Amino acid sequence: MIVGIPKETFLGEKRVAATPETIEKLIKLGFEVHVEPGAGIEANINDEAYLKSGAQIVSNISGSDIFLKVRAPSPAEIEKLKPGSTLISFIWPAQNPALLKLLCNKKINTIAMDSVPRISRAQKLDALSSMANIAGYRAVIEAAHHFGRFFTGQITAAGKVPPAQVFVIGAGVAGLSAIGTATSLGAIVKANDTRPEVADQVKSMGGSFVNVKVQESGSSQTGYAVIMSEEYQKAQRVVFAKQISEADIVITTALIPGRPAPKLITTEMVQSMKPGSVIVDLASEQGGNCELTVPGEVIKKHGVTLIGYTDLPSRLAKQSSQLYGTNLFRFLEEMCAQKNGVIHHNMNDEVIRGATVTFSGEITWPAPAVAISAKASEAKPEASTKEAHKKTEEKANPFVFIIAALLLLLVGLYAPAIFVTQITVFILACLIGYMVVWNVTASLHTPLMSVTNAISSIIIVGALLQTSSEDFWIQILSGFAVLLTSINLFGGFAVTKRMLDMFKKGS
Ligand code: NAI
Repeated sequence: MIVGIPKETFLGEKRVAATPETIEKLIKLGFEVHVEPGAGIEANINDEAYLKSGAQIVSNISGSDIFLKVRAPSPAEIEKLKPGSTLISFIWPAQNPALLKLLCNKKINTIAMDSVPRISRAQKLDALSSMANIAGYRAVIEAAHHFGRFFTGQITAAGKVPPAQVFVIGAGVAGLSAIGTATSLGAIVKANDTRPEVADQVKSMGGSFVNVKVQESGSSQTGYAVIMSEEYQKAQRVVFAKQISEADIVITTALIPGRPAPKLITTEMVQSMKPGSVIVDLASEQGGNCELTVPGEVIKKHGVTLIGYTDLPSRLAKQSSQLYGTNLFRFLEEMCAQKNGVIHHNMNDEVIRGATVTFSGEITWPAPAVAISAKASEAKPEASTKEAHKKTEEKANPFVFIIAALLLLLVGLYAPAIFVTQITVFILACLIGYMVVWNVTASLHTPLMSVTNAISSIIIVGALLQTSSEDFWIQILSGFAVLLTSINLFGGFAVTKRMLDMFKKGS
């Protein structure tokens, strides 16, 4: 099949749906790739780079079987698509019913990258997350550009500079990325979200979580937030008024998909900020979280700079094209399991079904909901880590030990002595392992896994003992085993150290 990469026609759009790196991968999947001349020029990718990657530069790509795009196509662009072909792009079906009709009439099978279900299996296809990650990063860079001071605190001969105070509203993908970027620049970062379970993530990125002391959770079965009660919103406004008046920079990302952005920052709150402060409103395209935001513009009101850019990922075009192109490649990889350059549009696959908005001449949006955060929605806002541990201790009550001891006694009465010794060691290992893992906070489970992997290399002792064998082949094999386990051992500890250093950053 031919994959066509058009030049984006949306005014100001600099991204492109494929880079030379992603094209190489598409060709390995068996596709032929046609790129429109100059498609990547705004992302600093010239036609020669595409040619080198194995693509063909073709002025008319209308004959393609699959079209990869960034922005939803215009009616003129839809006209050029081949009936029966597949289009993979951002579509925003809720906001674009007329576009769905046009695509449907043209019998285009459309996959909306904005509708990929946010489930673990689909993380590698989650273009919203990769774009939001870039937007969060760029928001901090834009803020730094307009803010007249350092982010980091300094003590110099010329005087003491306090660190910038950053307040992030909404700790989803963009918010967490902004927290990480601002802390790495040296700012003191605080953040709030209506979903209490993100508090740990905020801390792991180097920020501190600001609580609204109303016992209500914004979590839902879908993983997205829900609208909060009047009582919660009132309490939240009080907390925000204080935090915003103390902040130098506010980065606001609060949104419930498919709804207008909640107005969380009032004119009075803006007035309470110090002159020279900056607000970056990422939700500006959906109306903005701040009353004064003008979408797409940078304005100054009451001495505060308000940034309402709606194209933050496009402002880092090469990076976002690379990540978005990889998301698209991953999608095609899912659809082309045989790696034979032919896609299978499997409507029984929850990810492909979830993202398909038109198929075989029918509008298939919205797809049936996929539950993704049942556990999260059960979390109570007041459930602090301490309380969680307390509950664990209550659960791991003495009965477990009593039952284990009784079982051991029973086995001891009948089983051979060697078996009793080994089962005792096994049970103790299970108990210690359970207690250790349970007491490690969830965000540190990845480094824990890597250190456990390194510790598993204790089997090196067995290999070492065997090196003194008189048999030549045992010596060779044990030498090889020592080599492999030492790679695992040293590699495991090195990776763990690097991961822990990442967590330490900004603390
Ligand atoms: P997300 O859904 O992962 O995060 C939004 C967060 O806001 C969630 O954690 C949610 O719990 C929280 N939230 C919702 N209502 C809230 C409230 N009333 N108070 C506090 N927190 C609340 O979304 P993501 O991917 O992080 O995107 C965030 C925003 O950035 C969206 O508005 C998105 O459209 C926008 N965006 C803007 C770009 C730009 O160029 N301006 C580019 C990419 C994304």
